Amino acid sequence: MPEETQHGIRMDRVCYSIGGRTILRDFDLWLEPGVNRTILGVSGVGKTTILKLILGLLRPDSGDITIDGASICAMGERELITARKRISIVFQGGALFDSMTVGENVGYRLLEEGVLSEEEIERVALEKLGFVGLEQAIDLYPAELSGGMKKRVAIARALAADPEYIFFDEPTTGLDPIGVYNIQQLMLRLQHEGKTTLMVTHDMPTAFAVSNRFSFIHDGRLVFEGTRQEMEAVPCAEIAEFFSPTPVSLFKYANRQDNNI
Ligand SMILES: Nc1ncnc2c1ncn2[C@@H]1O[C@H](COP(=O)(O)OP(=O)(O)OP(=O)(O)O)[C@@H](O)[C@H]1O
Ligand SMILES: [Mg+2]
Repeated sequence: MPEETQHGIRMDRVCYSIGGRTILRDFDLWLEPGVNRTILGVSGVGKTTILKLILGLLRPDSGDITIDGASICAMGERELITARKRISIVFQGGALFDSMTVGENVGYRLLEEGVLSEEEIERVALEKLGFVGLEQAIDLYPAELSGGMKKRVAIARALAADPEYIFFDEPTTGLDPIGVYNIQQLMLRLQHEGKTTLMVTHDMPTAFAVSNRFSFIHDGRLVFEGTRQEMEAVPCAEIAEFFSPTPVSLFKYANRQDNNI
C-alpha cells in the first residue's frame, strides 16, 4: 500500500454476517484524517455495524480494518484498547449510565484507565462539559436531563480521552431545531480543532452542514463515495430513491431481517 494511503482508517473488502444474514460484503471505506464524512443508507443496512467494526467491538468474517496501516483485526485486546483511545463514539441514543452522575459519565473512561487522579478527572469532566455548555449539570443524573442535554453529555464523554476521530451515530435524532443547531455547531467546532468526524445520520440538513464527503451504502456494499454535488448528480437508482421516495418504496425495506440480502 502506498504510504499516503495508509493514513487514517481503512476498511478493505470487509465481509460481516450475523444471524445467517450478510450485512456487509467486500465493503471498502477510507476515513482520511481531516475529512468529515457522513455514511448514508436505509435503516438496517449496517451503518452502526460499520462503526462497531472499526471500534473492534465486532470482528469481520473476512477482509481487513487498519488504522494508519496497522490491522486492528490482528490486534489482541491490549493493543485494541490503545488503538481505541484514538477513536470515540457518541452512540445512537447517547448510552449514558443512568446510575452515574453527568460528571461520572464523562470521566468514566479516564477513571477506568487509572492514570489520572480523581481531582484531575473532575477537572477534565468540567472542561469537556464546558465545551458543550453543561458545566452546571455535572452533579445531575441522566434522568434529570432533556434529550438534547443527554446528547451533549454523550459528546462531552466522547471528548474526555481527547480522541483524534469522533464517530456520531444519529446525533440529532429526536432533537428540536435548536438542539440540532447545538449539535451541528459542536461538530463544526471539533472539526475546527482538528478532529476528524464520521457521522451516521438520516438528517440531511445536518449531514450537509457538517460533512464534506458522503458514503452511500446499499445491500452491504459502498455504492457511492464523494461530495454532495457528485452525490446529487450520480445516476444511481438507490440514491435517487433515498432522497425522493415514491409509492414503489412503500414498505420495501420494512422486513429486511426476513431477507437474506
Ligand atoms: N445481534 C443481532 N442479531 C441479528 N441481527 C442483528 C443483530 N444486530 C444487528 N442485526 C441486524 O444487522 C442489520 C444492520 O444493523 P445496524 O444497526 O448496523 O443498521 P443501521 O444501518 O445502523 O440501521 P438504523 O438506521 O436503523 O440505525 C440490521 O438489519 C439488524 O437487524
Ligand atoms: Mg444504526
